[in-house]
Amino acid sequence: MTTTVLVHKSEITAETLVLFGFKGASLQSLLPDYVAKSQLCIDESIVFKGEQNERKMIVVRNNKIKRVLVIGLGSKSDVSLISFKNVCAEIYKLIQKENYQSVALHCSSVTIKGSAIEEVYAVAAECAPLALYSFRRFKTLEEKKTKYLSRIELIVAEKGSKRLIVEAVQRASLIANSIVHARDLINEPANYLTPKDFVKRIQQRAREVKLTVDVLDEKELKQKKMGGILAVASGSVNKPALLVLKHKGSGKNKKTVCLVGKGVCFDSGGLSLKPAKSMMSMKYDMAGGAACAEAVIAAHRLNVKHDVIGLVPLVENAPDGKAYRPGDVLTMYSGSTVEVFNTDAEGRLILADALSYAKKYNPDIVCDLATLTGAAKICLGDKAAAIMGNDQQLINTLIAIGEKKGERLWQLPLWDEYLDDLKSDIADCKNISLKGAGTITAGKFLSQFIPKAKWAHIDIAAVAWEEEGKAYTPKGGSGFGVCLLVSYLLSL
Ligand code: BES
Ligand code: ZN
Ligand code: ZN
Repeated sequence: MTTTVLVHKSEITAETLVLFGFKGASLQSLLPDYVAKSQLCIDESIVFKGEQNERKMIVVRNNKIKRVLVIGLGSKSDVSLISFKNVCAEIYKLIQKENYQSVALHCSSVTIKGSAIEEVYAVAAECAPLALYSFRRFKTLEEKKTKYLSRIELIVAEKGSKRLIVEAVQRASLIANSIVHARDLINEPANYLTPKDFVKRIQQRAREVKLTVDVLDEKELKQKKMGGILAVASGSVNKPALLVLKHKGSGKNKKTVCLVGKGVCFDSGGLSLKPAKSMMSMKYDMAGGAACAEAVIAAHRLNVKHDVIGLVPLVENAPDGKAYRPGDVLTMYSGSTVEVFNTDAEGRLILADALSYAKKYNPDIVCDLATLTGAAKICLGDKAAAIMGNDQQLINTLIAIGEKKGERLWQLPLWDEYLDDLKSDIADCKNISLKGAGTITAGKFLSQFIPKAKWAHIDIAAVAWEEEGKAYTPKGGSGFGVCLLVSYLLSL
């Protein structure tokens, strides 16, 4: 566990101090008044230029601070909040690797065009638990590491730091905590995270933060005739559920926002079975559900003014004698009928029921998050999630927030003509199009089930799982969407 604290220069306890310099800055100009040049063991021939990725470690004499790590940020005009977040993430990992248990960052000198200083502190705080995250539950043979980076001190210029910085850092740490919890759920293998386990885990979290959670079990789903959820779940011994998280906002003129997340705890494809290679990673097919549930939890802890309802349909998609088949016709919760052409296009079936169920809450805004189509990776690679919807302003707002927060979105069109590709000979529609545009037609399918509200659909199939490991996103579940959704709710 790493704690991040704001400290005045007189309160620094870390032995390692990090200083940041833009291109062109001299070392002399970077030194704060609590470290004198005469204390540095520095060979005069070493010059610091402030180039991006430049690092100089300097030993300090006669000071509580034993070493200074000087980091180059590059040209001032090129530095963004995200690039600074990446730099901080690399620093934390480096410090951890060196077995230092604490570090102090001199953030006040980092001015970023278009961003307030509290945002600089916020990203420095937010990325710490994210960069140092690892999923260790099943590692029994590893040596227990004794030294962790456990204390991060962000140095503030004035004693009794400014309220805005304190609040921004608290907010960022809380959002990071939700991202970490979402990652934990995503990384859990499907034999440890059935729909029931998912429900239990969220109930436990909700209890801790005093948030109301309702669960519709299989019996209630049957009573309510949620034909999409029930059909997808029919091939698995693990029973489905619809998880409902309810945050009551206290603001005046409050809106109601429904966050709907795909919760397929394992997607084998069902009878339209996936090939082994594509099935391998399908435990993460509940990443949208994890992100939505954690976003509601974070929104609750942050006292978001609006009512926020999280809806997570939970199933396992498995092949079996009882499984739903290609060719079956389903009657959905909305009453409309769907001909199943492919049982691997299951996400849209469970989301359709959850989206129609959202009507009950009379939402102003509905946003769904889903690892919906492999095609999302074909259009955008792992660089952005695809966004679609019926309200351009909502989409623009989400895109702008995503850009700022490092969760990039790119819009795809939902032209009416795509609906023609979903026509069925015997039912109201079919569940896939045979004419390409897989990500769009999945979105178009969903559009038939939304309540009367502003709606955005975000396909996170390509970004919910990190393949290589990035600065503050290690390999595995990324938690994509938590920061985006919470930031959106806070901005509303
Ligand atoms: N869960 C998958 C989508 C997916 C693929 C997520 C790869 C993450 C990585 C979804 O249920 C699915 O199988 N979609 C099919 C739809 C097809 C049958 C129209 C797909 O994308 O191939
Ligand atoms: Zn599928
Ligand atoms: Zn799926």
